Amino acid sequence: MVKVTIDNIPIEVEEGTTILNAARKIGGKIVPPAMCYYSKLAGSGGKCRTCLVKVAKSSAKDPRPMPKLVASCSTPVQDGMEVLNITSPEVIETRKAIVEFLLINHPLDCPVCDQAGECDLQDLSFSHGMANTRTIESRREFPPTDIGPFIKLHMNRCILCYRCIYVANQITDKRVHGILFRGDSSEISTYIENVIDNDFSGNMIDVCPVGALTDKTFRFKSRVWFLKPMDAHRQCTKCSGRVTAWMFGDEIYRITGRKDQFGEMEEFICNECRFGKKEFSDWIIDGPRKIKRQSVISASYYENMIKPSVINPIGEIMEETE
Ligand code: SF4
Ligand code: FES
Repeated sequence: MVKVTIDNIPIEVEEGTTILNAARKIGGKIVPPAMCYYSKLAGSGGKCRTCLVKVAKSSAKDPRPMPKLVASCSTPVQDGMEVLNITSPEVIETRKAIVEFLLINHPLDCPVCDQAGECDLQDLSFSHGMANTRTIESRREFPPTDIGPFIKLHMNRCILCYRCIYVANQITDKRVHGILFRGDSSEISTYIENVIDNDFSGNMIDVCPVGALTDKTFRFKSRVWFLKPMDAHRQCTKCSGRVTAWMFGDEIYRITGRKDQFGEMEEFICNECRFGKKEFSDWIIDGPRKIKRQSVISASYYENMIKPSVINPIGEIMEETE
């Protein structure tokens, strides 16, 4: 075990643990955001730079600071290491610049994007972004493409995090899409219009941090914050059958995997559960899903509802919302 301090909070973790995972063990606001790392996908991380942190002391043996900010998702901790995240003005400033960089080619189409309300980039922009843009250049434009019967690709919104590529490589039996070309010409594409119809291809939608890959069976049906996320399960021969059913009344609008406090799926689910079972009678509803991360969904009336007592209702609400 090695001892490390992150934002002045000490923790002991196993050797080889990354700074990001050590911070996740502590939890709360000191956890760096991650747009490309995904703990269930081997090799992910190191692409987006949103998780940069400052290493003020490299280790007990070598107390010198690291000369540059490092990607916390791919830097292992050392014994005696001291890391600064939200306590470093340099990190906060740099993260702002990273958000600005990610938005250089990302359209500001949240009002018509199905990912709005659960988009990692939207949340990141809200917490770290600037109010204005400094660019006047036009953004890259691609026509929306159907990739397979269930998935729509909006390449305009892609931040090239590679997560969908790792899903296709690691949990489907055949990858038929990838990133073509180099630099600012890079784009996600299926080679010669191959379709993605593998049984687990729908998981690409859930791992996509932005609205580049969306569910064709749900597109434009509802804003996510109008729906109630419910834990539901069914007997399935292909996956665990444990999902989140997004409901309006008794109607199921969409099925997704269950996401944890870091926005990652707890388990990957099959396409039959995701796209083929939308009847209320298909599922056993376990109860409301707790959205454990800061999100417009958890901030809605459904979660965190403040129930004022009769004694001092306005005073209590003011206190809770301050
Ligand atoms: S489509 Fe989504 S998951 Fe795939 S690389 Fe682009 S942003 Fe990442
Ligand atoms: S999450 Fe670390 S570089 Fe993207």
